[in-house]
Amino acid sequence: MKTIAGKTAVLTGASGGIGVFIARALAKEQVTVVTISRSQEGLEQICTEIETEGGKAISIPFDIRQLEELPSLVQKIEQLAGPIDILINNAAIEKFRPFQNYALEDIQSILTLNLHAPMELTRLLLPSMIERKSGHIVNISSGAGKKAAPFNSIYSASKAGLIMWSEAIRQELANTNVGVSVICPGCTNAGMFLALDISVPKGASIAEPTQVADVVIQAIKQNQKEVILDGLAIKVFYALSQLSPEFGDSMIQKAGVIETNFNCAQKQMQAENIVCN
Ligand SMILES: NC(=O)c1ccc[n+]([C@@H]2O[C@H](COP(=O)([O-])OP(=O)(O)OC[C@H]3O[C@@H](n4cnc5c(N)ncnc54)[C@H](OP(=O)(O)O)[C@@H]3O)[C@@H](O)[C@H]2O)c1
Repeated sequence: MKTIAGKTAVLTGASGGIGVFIARALAKEQVTVVTISRSQEGLEQICTEIETEGGKAISIPFDIRQLEELPSLVQKIEQLAGPIDILINNAAIEKFRPFQNYALEDIQSILTLNLHAPMELTRLLLPSMIERKSGHIVNISSGAGKKAAPFNSIYSASKAGLIMWSEAIRQELANTNVGVSVICPGCTNAGMFLALDISVPKGASIAEPTQVADVVIQAIKQNQKEVILDGLAIKVFYALSQLSPEFGDSMIQKAGVIETNFNCAQKQMQAENIVCN
């Protein structure tokens, strides 16, 4: 989609973290932004900011884990904003645990928000894009979807799932003029990374949320298939990890990720009074 000015985008997870930066970047490109997340206050804040700057934004507070309610949400979106040209599946959660310590509700909640909701929103919005022969889906994945993060296994599975699902539908949609991009940020100076209060793993770098937002805009305009925000060394690491999982695991260990993530899991479990199994 070479020109995005005048288009309408749905952005999930717009009330905080990286989502706010993506919303601003879309508005700067004269895209009308339909912002979705649970916090009405957070959405109103970003929408007011966009409108003060002369942009157009609509807020719809909604918990997108309510999969059965998503058809009514889409109906409401289309009533308020008209046909949707761009969908950015950005909302996600993560929870650190040794795998055996996840409760069923944790697994369901993470997979529903991070993977099922993007699939369902896309399934509902795609027919209109195909019919109009124009559209773009952006799925915000993570480096954890390229090489899994120990003690963050459900999040990693959800993000790897997003990559594979994006890859599949991208090929299905090849002749429809509907593009699909999957974005894989590494550690980003915002949102869930800042909330963890940990240092960047050895060898990795930290991106600014404005960089992620710029990458999203560029991916839509240039119909980029997959964008990894980290530099060449990390890209090579992901490729080598595919060829040799042993190499990948040993690098993760050397970078101190196992220890850091285990400590995160312990901290989160202590905060919830959960005993390690
Ligand atoms: N930050 C990083 O270092 C990093 C690295 C790699 C990938 N990513 C990816 O980048 C994306 C944004 O991450 P972030 O760091 O900005 O996260 P964040 O600060 O935790 O923000 C998550 C957003 O999702 C919304 N959300 C959470 N639960 C929701 C629900 N049930 N229904 C609707 N919205 C919901 C939140 O708003 P409410 O709480 O108001 O609902 C918030 O707006 C995610 O896909 C994440 O996996 C982030």
